[in-house]
Amino acid sequence: MSYLGVVVVAAGSGTRLGAGLPKAYVEVGGKTVLQRALETLRELDEPAQIVVVVSREWTDRASEICRAVETGKDEIILVEGGRDRHDSVGNGLAALPAGIDVVLVHDAARALTPASLFTAVAAEVRRTGEGVVPGLAVTDTIKRVKDGRAIETIDRSELAAMQTPQGFPLRNLVEAYNAGNGSMTDDAAVYAAAGHPVHIIDGDPLAFKITTPEDLERAEHLVNTSVTRVGTGIDVHAFDAEQPLWLGGVHWPDEAGLAGHSDGDAVAHAICDALLSAAGLGDIGSTFGTDDPRFAGAHGDVFIAETVSLVGAAGFRVLNVSVQVVGNRPKLSPRRAEIEAVLSGLVGAPVSVSATTSDGLGFTGRGEGVAAIATALLAVVG
Ligand code: CTP
Ligand code: MG
Repeated sequence: MSYLGVVVVAAGSGTRLGAGLPKAYVEVGGKTVLQRALETLRELDEPAQIVVVVSREWTDRASEICRAVETGKDEIILVEGGRDRHDSVGNGLAALPAGIDVVLVHDAARALTPASLFTAVAAEVRRTGEGVVPGLAVTDTIKRVKDGRAIETIDRSELAAMQTPQGFPLRNLVEAYNAGNGSMTDDAAVYAAAGHPVHIIDGDPLAFKITTPEDLERAEHLVNTSVTRVGTGIDVHAFDAEQPLWLGGVHWPDEAGLAGHSDGDAVAHAICDALLSAAGLGDIGSTFGTDDPRFAGAHGDVFIAETVSLVGAAGFRVLNVSVQVVGNRPKLSPRRAEIEAVLSGLVGAPVSVSATTSDGLGFTGRGEGVAAIATALLAVVG
């Protein structure tokens, strides 16, 4: 039986992104670029042999990522990259086992490419027996430029921007690679130079290549806004002048404290409830239980740290939290920046804090206690 091979090239250094590490290991929405590219391949209907091409210094990290996405029987083959993309693809092709008829070559840097594009390219290679490349129409006017001067305008109706995966009958591509040279930036050019025809099919805007910091921001935005969940939490504690005051994760000397099983930090507790609710994990009472000795007298930071780790384990990432305190005392504004820094550090995302009185009304207005209401926004990572 003949089957599909996929060579994922991830051995570049990511110079233009400038993240201080190769692009494949940069995170987009809490997952590396390489992991995202490989997870998409898991969604393919047909079995595929995947070869991942990485630079030598990153083999251990790459291997960890491969193991995390492997489903069992289909082991990913890991090979070392070359000096340029051309060499890296060559190394990847050489590592494919026998029995493969069609190969797709893909840039790991196109991390958000949907599985449907892989399927469409492979189907078109099988239908035509020729090379197939996804392309997008060029929308900007393109000019040839020399020494800062526009020399000529190129008819854009004849232009298309090439993406990956690019698909080919394996034998022809291997021959073309053996004859080609590193000056070509895509596989279709190598293939065409060997005299083979290349078809263009419709590309997908999501298959854009993460090249610059702006591309990374766009990718981050796309994954973050694709699925988010919101949660609300309220907590109330009565003043107890015998207790020290802990509120917003910080100690307030010379202020009446708040009563409670723990330290009575209504701000921290409202944040936990909002986070747990957004993740669908219940609430602080059902999660921590008043009889758990680990939390008796514990400060808010213990609850927040534990909550954030539960929310992460359930497949979510915190995007931000907003919390408002209702009460006459303590006066929050002088310490707002400090509290926000402490809470943001604990949550691992921006936490904004505001405060209001209740105009003399209700238990907060009478100075009997403090209320806090929090809203948390999570991104679905899984
Ligand atoms: N690539 C590779 N081996 C190389 C160079 C590039 O496997 N020697 C891979 C990259 O990892 C990437 C794809 O080819 O997935 C497209 O290349 P590019 O976007 O240029 O990535 P980098 O070379 O990493 O980035 P830069 O050019 O900004 O350094
Ligand atoms: Mg490059």
